[in-house]
Amino acid sequence: MKPVTPFDSASSSLYFEEAHSADVVNARMAPNADARLRQVMTILVEHLHAAVKEIEPSHEEWLAAIRFLTETGQMCTDWRQEYILLSDILGVSMLVDAINHRRPSGATPNTILGPFYVANSPEYENGANICLDGKGEPLRVAGCVRDIEGRPIANAKLEVWQTNDDGFYDVQQKGIQPDSNLRGVLTSDAEGRYWFRSVKPRHYPIPSDGPVGRLLGAIGRHPNRAAHLHFIVTAPGYDSVITHIFTPDCPYRDADAVFGVKRELIAEFNKIDDPDAAERVGFSAPFWSVSWDFTLAASTQPRRAIP
Ligand code: BEZ
Ligand code: FE
Repeated sequence: MKPVTPFDSASSSLYFEEAHSADVVNARMAPNADARLRQVMTILVEHLHAAVKEIEPSHEEWLAAIRFLTETGQMCTDWRQEYILLSDILGVSMLVDAINHRRPSGATPNTILGPFYVANSPEYENGANICLDGKGEPLRVAGCVRDIEGRPIANAKLEVWQTNDDGFYDVQQKGIQPDSNLRGVLTSDAEGRYWFRSVKPRHYPIPSDGPVGRLLGAIGRHPNRAAHLHFIVTAPGYDSVITHIFTPDCPYRDADAVFGVKRELIAEFNKIDDPDAAERVGFSAPFWSVSWDFTLAASTQPRRAIP
């Protein structure tokens, strides 16, 4: 009788062997398992085994890794997703986003969503001030939503959110900041224009009091995000864009903790020290002004999810 070897693919009884460990594991998958899941699991097992073979962890090191992943899960609540934070600081969130949003040139690029988006935020008229705590340097944001051909898109929905001048989102400081401070929904007018008042954003740390923060510290990385305003811009018939506007003068512009900065998303912020101009836009003192257009690409089909 032919001896059963770990590599006899015709055999259903394959024994574990270091040299062919990933193949042994992958051979156990049922042939009728979902094809996409089989592909994903095969690749994950191959890469995981290759990494373990290269690293050659001691039992203690492997247990430390298990402990880290356990703590990461235990840190998760309705308000805190430590696994997404881990994916963010490893650059995986930005990579998945890049793979899924290969837009035509000229379209506004996506960047990271982050954990502080809140659906159904207050709706504002253009010109409104979304800063409810009166802190920070006044900022006017104005621009146009257009399609790739440069035609204005009327009635586009612009959801905006940012931290206050202390570097916290409203949802991180319930009872300290006014509810919905520095977040709201605007609608572009018939010419695609939008405008609102806010404050100049500043850099702030991602939540770093958990295992992900400890990992960053252990590998000598800071937790700071480059100063930004978040936007989600949606209009029927177009791909929604989840994006940011970055300030050009932030010390973390080129070292964002979650790799969210893209050259095309760094704006020019101009300081306007003219009382008449300030009065015209509803401020009483010098203010910052940023002019920013969003360009939306026509809708594409969504891909099927892994079961
Ligand atoms: C943020 O922009 O708020 C953010 C993004 C990724 C991780 C943590 C925070
Ligand atoms: Fe943010």
